Amino acid sequence: MLKIIDHPIVQHGLLVLRDRETSASEFRRHLKEIAWLLFYEAARELPTSGIPVETPMEKTTATGLHGKVHLIAVLRAALGMVEGIVAHLQNADVGHLGLYRDEQTLQPVQYYAKLPDLKSGEPTFLVDPMLATGGSMVAALKILQTRGADPLSVLTLIAAPEGVAQVQQFAPSVPIFTAALDRQLNTRGYILPGLGDAGDRQFGT
Ligand code: PRP
Ligand code: URA
Repeated sequence: MLKIIDHPIVQHGLLVLRDRETSASEFRRHLKEIAWLLFYEAARELPTSGIPVETPMEKTTATGLHGKVHLIAVLRAALGMVEGIVAHLQNADVGHLGLYRDEQTLQPVQYYAKLPDLKSGEPTFLVDPMLATGGSMVAALKILQTRGADPLSVLTLIAAPEGVAQVQQFAPSVPIFTAALDRQLNTRGYILPGLGDAGDRQFGT
């Protein structure tokens, strides 16, 4: 399932991120906000339960999130997105996967992995702003599936048709939540129109 979040607030934030004149600090601010809005949509099926609470008026039971949520950030570009989500989420832990694309082959190279204990039944959200060839996302999904992550969802800012096809072929049951499905990749594997290099735009490198 590919779900494009076409909410006007998300789309306006994405416009700011696409703009080459947007500074790194503005980029980080908007990325955090959009990430939370994407997560809001992706989190519709999270388990809830009745939790006792005492209001200033009386005791009651109110609906709250039930159980753990795992967020997995693909370094380094997902850092800002995950920051925007955990700021609002008390029951989340955060795993980090270090992957970069070899500039010649476009194949993902893994250099780091620090993951929480991923148990079946605890929702895991794999976060990476750019889904280009899909190589990095599929590599990350393989690692998470091996570690027992289930159910899994993908949260990305901009997806290319090539990357969506790769992920859907590898993991047809994993939903992909994105703000945009862009036109195509260029010969260097960059998304068009895209926003450039998400890591560089965020960190000013
Ligand atoms: C970017 C992005 C994804 C990957 C997407 O990371 O954050 O992880 O490229 O490309 P793919 O779908 O073709 O694999 P990058 O390799 O630039 O690493 P960085 O975040 O450390 O700069
Ligand atoms: N990684 C990025 O950061 N941007 C792209 O367009 C493709 C891969």
